[in-house]
Amino acid sequence: MKVTRLHITNFRNIAETELYPGEGMNVIYGENAQGKTNLLESIWLFSGFKSFRGSKDHDLIRFGEEYLKSDFDFFGGERDQNAKMIISHQQKKILLNSVPLTAASKLIGHFNCVVFSPSYLSLIKGNPSERRKFIDSAICQIKPSYAKALTEYSKLLMQRNSFLKDLKYHQENYDFLEIWNTKLIEKAVFIINERIRYLEDLSVKASEIYGGLSGEKETLTLEYHLRVSQSKYRTVRDKVEREELEELFRQSENSDILYGSTNIGAHKDEIAVLIDGISAKSFGSQGQQRSAALALKLGEAEILKDMTGERPVALLDDVMSELDIHRQDYILNHIKDWQVFITCCDPATVLRLYDGKAFQIKEGKVV
Ligand SMILES: Nc1ncnc2c1ncn2[C@@H]1O[C@H](COP(=O)(O)OP(=O)(O)O)[C@@H](O)[C@H]1O
Ligand SMILES: [Mg+2]
Repeated sequence: MKVTRLHITNFRNIAETELYPGEGMNVIYGENAQGKTNLLESIWLFSGFKSFRGSKDHDLIRFGEEYLKSDFDFFGGERDQNAKMIISHQQKKILLNSVPLTAASKLIGHFNCVVFSPSYLSLIKGNPSERRKFIDSAICQIKPSYAKALTEYSKLLMQRNSFLKDLKYHQENYDFLEIWNTKLIEKAVFIINERIRYLEDLSVKASEIYGGLSGEKETLTLEYHLRVSQSKYRTVRDKVEREELEELFRQSENSDILYGSTNIGAHKDEIAVLIDGISAKSFGSQGQQRSAALALKLGEAEILKDMTGERPVALLDDVMSELDIHRQDYILNHIKDWQVFITCCDPATVLRLYDGKAFQIKEGKVV
C-alpha cells in the first residue's frame, strides 16, 4: 500500500494542500497546532473508518467553509487507484475509482493503514470498551462479514434492552424473551469466537514485538476474558459454546430484567493485556503501557500485512518523542519497508535514522 498523491481542500485548518509522498519515510514536521495530525487524519479517513480523534464529519470541514474535498491517489491491490471524499454540511459523497459508494465504510479493505498516536495509551489504560473497539476494528479490516455481525449485534442488543425495560410492566410478554436471547446469542458466539481466533495471532505478533522493545526482558500475553456475571470473568482459551452463553444468559436474567439491560455478551467482555503475567492496566509503568500499546498496534499491522499480502501505510503521530533511542530504533527498523508518515516537532530525530522525504507544515500549509 502506498499513498502517491493527496490533494486536500478545506480540511480542518488546511485550506489547500497537494502532496506527493515518497515511497518510504515521510516526515511531517512543524510547530504545535500547525496541522500535522490533521494531515494524517485526512489520510486515515480513506481507510473507511471514522476519525481516530472521534470527530464527527462536520467537524472536519474548515471553519466558515461549506464543504471539504479530499482527492487521493494510492497504489493498492496491485494497481493505481483513486478515491475522493466530498463532505458538506448536508451530505457526504465518496467515490472509489469514480464509482460512488453508499458509505465511507465501503472503503474498508481497499486502502489499509494503521495509525499510532499517544492517545493509544488508552488502549491499555482505558476501560474494556477501548480494547474491544481496537480488536473489533482490526478484525473488520480483514473480515467484512465481521463488521456486518457487529452492526447486527448492536441492533439486536438495543432491541433486547428496550424489550427488557418494557417487560417490567408487561410480564405477560415474558415468553418472547427467549426469541431475543436466541438471536443475540447466535451473533455473540460468532463475534466472541472471531475475537479469540484473532487474539491467538495477535498474541504471537505482539509478544514478539514487545520482547524486542523491552530488550527481551519482559513478556506480553493477551487473554480473552468472558464476562460471566456482574463482576466476574472467565478466561477462554479455545472457543465459547452457544450452550455456555445460554446458561450465562439464564443466570443473568433476573438482573437483566431488573436493570432493563443486558449484562452478559460480547459487549461486556474484556481483552486482558498482561506483562509478565500481571495486568498492564493495573500494574504497568508508563513506559510498559506505552510499549504494550505500540506492540498491539504493530502486531495488528503485521497481521494485516500477512492477510492481504500488502504492507499497510503506517501513520505515526507524535510517537518518537516519548520513547528512548533503543525503542525508537526498534520501531523504525520494524517498519522500515513500509510507507510511513511520521509527525514530529523536530525532524532531526527521525532524519538521523532514515532518509526519506520531509514536509514542513505551517499554519495548515505544506511549505
Ligand atoms: N474544522 C476546523 N477548521 C479550522 N481549524 C481547525 C478545525 N479543526 C481543527 N482545527 C485547528 O487545527 C489545529 C490543530 O491541528 P493539528 O493537526 O492537531 O496540529 P498539530 O500540528 O499539533 O498536529 C488547531 O489549531 C485547531 O484549532
Ligand atoms: Mg498533532
